[in-house]
Amino acid sequence: MNMKETNKFVRACSFSELKEKGRLKFAADNGGEAALFFTGGKVYAVDNVCPHNHTPKIHLGFIEGNNVLCPVHLYKFNLKTGKNINCQTCNLPVYEVRIEGDDIFIEKPKSNSFNFDF
Ligand code: FES
Repeated sequence: MNMKETNKFVRACSFSELKEKGRLKFAADNGGEAALFFTGGKVYAVDNVCPHNHTPKIHLGFIEGNNVLCPVHLYKFNLKTGKNINCQTCNLPVYEVRIEGDDIFIEKPKSNSFNFDF
């Protein structure tokens, strides 16, 4: 059975392109963005917006084992769990990945609109 895009999952890229480049940014139609990485033989998808300063640059981060370091202030996030090694209250959303053939589907990234109402 071929996987199709649903309300929950969207096709982010081809597996072969991610393998070749090692990282990709995916922009969803709701304004959300994900950063995809291929490292250690695994595919990871995390939100592209760093929760520290709301900077959409995680896709440009530095890979260290199965962690990514935000390029802005070097906060380190586990790619599998999204947990921040430096600050326990500042974690990165992670998205479920499904690979079918050469297609990579991920959970649709959250919208990047922030609600600053208190
Ligand atoms: S904006 Fe990412 S660590 Fe500060």
